[in-house]
Amino acid sequence: MLGLLVLTLASFAPLAAEARAFFVFGDSLVDNGNNNYLATTARADSPPYGIDFPTRLPTGRFSNGLNIPDLISEAIGTESPMPYLSPFLKGEKLLAGANFASAGIGILNDTGIQFVNIIRMYKQLEYFQQYQQRVTGLIGAEQTQRLVNEALVLMTVGGNDFVNNYYLVPFSARSRQFSLPDYVVYVISEYRKLLVRLYDLGARRVLVTGSGPLGCVPAELALRGRNGQCSTELQQAAALYNPQLTEMIKELNAQYGSDIFIAANTREMSTNFISNPEAFGFTTSKMACCGQGPYNGIGLCTPSSNLCSNRDEYAFWDPFHPSERANRYLVQQMMNGSTEYMNPMNLSTILAMDSRT
Ligand SMILES: *[C@@H]1O[C@H](CO)[C@@H](O)[C@H](O)[C@H]1NC(C)=O
Ligand SMILES: *[C@@H]1O[C@H](CO)[C@@H](O)[C@H](O)[C@H]1NC(C)=O
Ligand SMILES: *[C@@H]1O[C@H](CO)[C@@H](O)[C@H](O)[C@H]1NC(C)=O
Repeated sequence: MLGLLVLTLASFAPLAAEARAFFVFGDSLVDNGNNNYLATTARADSPPYGIDFPTRLPTGRFSNGLNIPDLISEAIGTESPMPYLSPFLKGEKLLAGANFASAGIGILNDTGIQFVNIIRMYKQLEYFQQYQQRVTGLIGAEQTQRLVNEALVLMTVGGNDFVNNYYLVPFSARSRQFSLPDYVVYVISEYRKLLVRLYDLGARRVLVTGSGPLGCVPAELALRGRNGQCSTELQQAAALYNPQLTEMIKELNAQYGSDIFIAANTREMSTNFISNPEAFGFTTSKMACCGQGPYNGIGLCTPSSNLCSNRDEYAFWDPFHPSERANRYLVQQMMNGSTEYMNPMNLSTILAMDSRT
């Protein structure tokens, strides 16, 4: 028994010291397959999802190919972390990190209620705690804490609190309870609690993405936009939400340490290619590659949907999610973007700082 323990420590400890772990929390923009293990309709496990993935198979990613966590992993030279619910994520593999994200969830528990069985934020954080207990069993408490402290963390959540809650149906419960400005303040205050909890659980490098331009996705063009214009109400939501998120993150950094939370202005980044798709090599930012109805924006992307032949020409893969090519641009900006996009600094600066210490 003792011999086994020593062997385990010897084989795991150096790994923990070398590779930087990566943890992912959030919604469908970053889910890489957790929902495949759940009884929910919020899933991307059938074709043509994954059509441009290395295996050409659906994986649960809401993308034609790679998603944002995959591309961040590619940029920082690590393996993209596995879905936490995967039975294959065990043993030594745990040391590379884990992806806890779940399509459909929001900051609030009542967001995505129609998807029933999804991993809500508080549960993703509980799983993170459980993960740390499991890793402690492998490498001990001290090494586990170090692994978590030194890890990169990505948090992408918030869009669904508008799309799949406040604006889900006319006269939704939340829209009767709150004016939009008051709702944004409430959502941000709940988000703050989640980030503090993440800090308490040991996260020290947390990339927090804003929402996209919510009113401009093909689904909203089809549902609410007039003549292909972005939906005014959802654009207004994004315009209120994102600056307050940046402000809240600044306050957190002032309180907890200057470079712990990093705000990525994904609204600004996405607006670039949505308002000028040709400049980014896209032929359209209005029409989804996979879907049906106006802008291919109605319903889900399924085997019987319209499907474009060249996904790289489309900013949107399905009615809500960017194509791999658009994701690449987002991650490029996260890595190398100026302070207009990345606050207080970009990821390459963070990586350089961390390699020095
Ligand atoms: C969400 O639900 C969990 C579990 O019931 C609870 O602990 C948490 O406080 C809830 N969060 C909010 C914002 O209501
Ligand atoms: C960031 O910039 C560096 C140096 O210019 C470059 O090598 C790297 O590929 C860029 N990373 C991304 C993700 O664009
Ligand atoms: C972001 O990253 C690049 C390196 O890829 C660097 O040259 C640039 O100064 C950084 N910008 C800021 C504002 O940190």
